[in-house]
Amino acid sequence: MSIKIKRKNKGYSQNEVASLLGIPLRTYKRIELTEGNKRSYKHELIEAKIDALPKNSVRRNIKKETICVVGAGNVGYPLGILLAERNRVFFLDSNEEKIQNINRGVSLIDGYQLSSNTLKVKASSDLKTLNYCDSIVICLPTEYEEKIKRFNTSKIEEYISYISNNNPNATVVIKSTVPIGFTKKMAKQFANLEIIFAPEFLREDHGFEDSQYPDRLIFGVKRVNLKNKRMALVFENITNNASKTTFMSYEEAEAVKLFSNSFLAMRIAYMNEIDSFALKNNLDAEKIIKGMCQDSRIGDFYNNPSFGFGGHCFPKDTKQLSSSLKDSKLINAIVESNVSRTKTIAKQIMKKCNKDSTVGFYKVKNKNSASMDVAGLLFNKGYNVIFFEDGNEESFDIFIKKSDFIIANRIDERISKYKEKVFTRDLFLR
Ligand SMILES: NC(=O)c1ccc[n+]([C@@H]2O[C@H](COP(=O)([O-])OP(=O)(O)OC[C@H]3O[C@@H](n4cnc5c(N)ncnc54)[C@H](O)[C@@H]3O)[C@@H](O)[C@H]2O)c1
Repeated sequence: MSIKIKRKNKGYSQNEVASLLGIPLRTYKRIELTEGNKRSYKHELIEAKIDALPKNSVRRNIKKETICVVGAGNVGYPLGILLAERNRVFFLDSNEEKIQNINRGVSLIDGYQLSSNTLKVKASSDLKTLNYCDSIVICLPTEYEEKIKRFNTSKIEEYISYISNNNPNATVVIKSTVPIGFTKKMAKQFANLEIIFAPEFLREDHGFEDSQYPDRLIFGVKRVNLKNKRMALVFENITNNASKTTFMSYEEAEAVKLFSNSFLAMRIAYMNEIDSFALKNNLDAEKIIKGMCQDSRIGDFYNNPSFGFGGHCFPKDTKQLSSSLKDSKLINAIVESNVSRTKTIAKQIMKKCNKDSTVGFYKVKNKNSASMDVAGLLFNKGYNVIFFEDGNEESFDIFIKKSDFIIANRIDERISKYKEKVFTRDLFLR
């Protein structure tokens, strides 16, 4: 039996097999094409790997949907591209550069090759796109605003209002993280719409992988009906594993999202508390954490100390939950622990270098990172702070020469050569 037939029998597209086996789509296509000419060890290898793949049995044959994904970002882009394998997908975004790239067939994610189906996906900023879709998936940002002590959901509200006026038959799926109670309020205000809250759990930079292999699919609904059951099938069809789908109320689904992220943030904060304790008392944090994590109920994973939890989601989601649960000392403590962690790290750095030194921050990554908070504290104390994100050898050498002291939240091969001047709490190098 040919590789192509084996792949089809297992229920995978070429793009899916290429990404599962971690090879470029081009290479995979060539292997299928050349099999008939001359079989080599490469064909044997790929065939064995396809044999080892589980059957892609979760796919169901359902009618193509016309879907508009609003917000082609970390969440919306991979989701839209995967949905486009079996549906007609449009992106609606306010970023002109993204729109142009999508329309030119350029993948927004380095290294992800678009298949023939997904190359056809189009994008625009024209609201009218929403008028002709069966379903609309909202993946807009919801930043936490200190002033109102809540996520800013105004963009989502504007879109839902527009859909209610112009395409009330559409099913609206909110993927953005929202405060508990938000979807119920929307469903009440726009009672002519079928609204679903389906939280997204992907890790940053793992959008495609996590959308294809989710641990669970959660659907917050007013009541289970044919429309939302059908929508669940559409989402199940982009997954490659038999992920568990659960229907629940809006508030329960919103709580799953915020409590999950706060739990993960708490685990990071807990490991950081151990590390801060060890630093203050001159103890070996690595030994304490390893010893603790040998307990199988705790587990030896997700336990590497850092300068604090950062990124797009954990800081804002913990703040939102803490604001909703004002009386919960535990949830509030997660936010506070992260603030005191950055102060502890800044103090440690200040102990090690004098004010005339230049402190170089290696790979800060995004403005919400904990390293950036540490850098801010040092800068306010009058330290000379410089940054290096990514660049060629020449700019890296300049950074190394200029920095008397280097701060790296995570150690990689490049910076590991300068150990003697690096400060890190990356104990397990992962
Ligand atoms: N990043 C993650 O890993 C992650 C994981 C789970 C959930 N979430 C949640 O998902 C939501 C989206 O997050 P993200 O990381 O994809 O955000 P993002 O910033 O990467 O993407 C948002 C996209 O929306 C577009 N946009 C902004 N305003 C718009 C408007 N008015 N009209 C049309 N397009 C507009 C932006 O141009 C951008 O392409 C947030 O609520 C976030 O909390 C994010």
